[in-house]
Amino acid sequence: MSASRGKFNSRIGFILAAAGSAVGLGNIWGFPTQAAGNGGAAFVLMYLILAFCLAYPAFMAELIIGRHGQANAVESLRKVSKDGWQKKFAFIVGFGGILCAALLMSFYSIVAGWMLAFTAEPITTLVGATDTSNWLTAQSTSRNLIFTLIFTLLTVFIISRGVENGIERWSKRLMPALVALLVSLTVYVLTLDGAMDGLKAYLIPDFSQLFEPSLIVSALGQAFFSLSLGTSVIIIYGSYVAKNENLVSLGASVTLIDVFIAFLAGLLIIPAMYVAAAQGVQIFDANGALISGDTLVLTVLPALFDGMGSVGVIVALAFFALMSIASLTSSISMLEAPVSYTVERFGIARNTATMVIGALIFATSCLIIFNFNTLFGFVIALTTQYGQPIIGMLCCIFVGWIWHRSSLLEELKSGNEHVENQLFWKIWPWYTKLVCPVAIALVFIHSL
Ligand code: PFF
Repeated sequence: MSASRGKFNSRIGFILAAAGSAVGLGNIWGFPTQAAGNGGAAFVLMYLILAFCLAYPAFMAELIIGRHGQANAVESLRKVSKDGWQKKFAFIVGFGGILCAALLMSFYSIVAGWMLAFTAEPITTLVGATDTSNWLTAQSTSRNLIFTLIFTLLTVFIISRGVENGIERWSKRLMPALVALLVSLTVYVLTLDGAMDGLKAYLIPDFSQLFEPSLIVSALGQAFFSLSLGTSVIIIYGSYVAKNENLVSLGASVTLIDVFIAFLAGLLIIPAMYVAAAQGVQIFDANGALISGDTLVLTVLPALFDGMGSVGVIVALAFFALMSIASLTSSISMLEAPVSYTVERFGIARNTATMVIGALIFATSCLIIFNFNTLFGFVIALTTQYGQPIIGMLCCIFVGWIWHRSSLLEELKSGNEHVENQLFWKIWPWYTKLVCPVAIALVFIHSL
């Protein structure tokens, strides 16, 4: 089986693919709005602490399980388990993660569809197709169905091409485009009137909020979502990493890129909101808090772009193209989780597996679209507030309590001979064993 498995061909290929999974709507949309609503720089600071102290160790746990197993999430977890109950536990955690990834994709592709529709809108406006422009930007079942389908097909196309020709090649193309767009937009927005007020709101901390329980819960949830944890995605990507790669530095690179891009997105979005305010757009809600969620991205920012005149059309196009690209590099990782399992477990051809699973996920998206008010928020809460933290915590338990320490060390030594003498090995094993599960459980219980 291993001979037919895909593999990342280069270190940079893995870094860009894993960073592509990590960097998505969570960074460009979620992080800035959560920062805005939770004391600005205080949230940024807590996010940095939790991303490096809790999410990075959990990320490493999943990465190592995958690289050791060289198989889909269920099989990789089974390889570190010993007797009967451990193997069953491995199945529950691995399959739970796969289900979580598939469910995540069912709502993520709806939101990503909105981004595609908003990318098309400046073009229809430019050619004077006003009715189409209105249809593209207003919530409707038909628009949601069509753009969710287009987005799902794009994801299916990339995943059907496999690891090297699909995930790696497209991540290498899309990630640099994303960074270039993000940096250009940020530089541009920072030159506009009102941007400096936004910069202050984003960067000057209100330390009184730093230990607010709700801030900590939001920051941890955001860090887990952002690093794609608890979905078996990192286990799968880890399984495509060559044995001569240094996992400690690979994991650190991906975490750093993810945090950096989230921070950069904040430098774009928050100042952009204040620029919009300077142009008369409403950016505070009735309670005086900054507007967040879909109102921000789908109302405030388009109003800002409208106010810019003809250049606004280009900026709007660039901004929503950026959001679409970021979503695509994340959704491909979500689809890869169930596809790799099905291909390896049932010996089905990748093309067939991708199409069947893509169709099932699209059917779930349709169910959500037709029952939007009841299901949309429910599926988001189920996957991001419950599924991801619980499964992420169980992966830490696997590494800390089930996997034999000497076998774990052997895996880490592959590609990093001296890891035993490094700070990482002195801290990470007991940290993952004790601190991570307890801290995640505490935050999780609190969020309930
Ligand atoms: N990390 C992605 C984001 O920040 O948008 C979302 C995500 C991707 C979550 C893949 C989970 C996952 F498995």
